[in-house]
Amino acid sequence: MLAAVRNGIHGIDGECGGCLDCATCHVYVDEEQASSVPQPGEEELELLSAVSGERKPNSRLSCQLKVTAPLDELVVHVPARQS
Ligand code: FES
Repeated sequence: MLAAVRNGIHGIDGECGGCLDCATCHVYVDEEQASSVPQPGEEELELLSAVSGERKPNSRLSCQLKVTAPLDELVVHVPARQS
C-alpha cells in the first residue's frame, strides 16, 4: 500500500494509512504469487468481508503485505472500485 500510494498508483487509496480501518487498499494478489505471501490474519479477513469491490480468493489488503526476501517483487491487480 505504501509503495502504491507513494508512487501515485491509481486504485490503491490507503485512506487509514494501514491501520486496518478502511479497506481502500484492497487488491488481488497475482494468482502465481498467492502462495508466496503470508495468509491474512483475523482482522484482515474481517475487513475483507466488507470490501466494496468483488472479493476473490486472492483478495488481500495491500497494507498488510510486506515485500521481503526472497519475494523481491509482488504483482497485484486493483479492483474496479474501492469505495
Ligand atoms: S490502508 Fe486502510 S485497511 Fe489498508
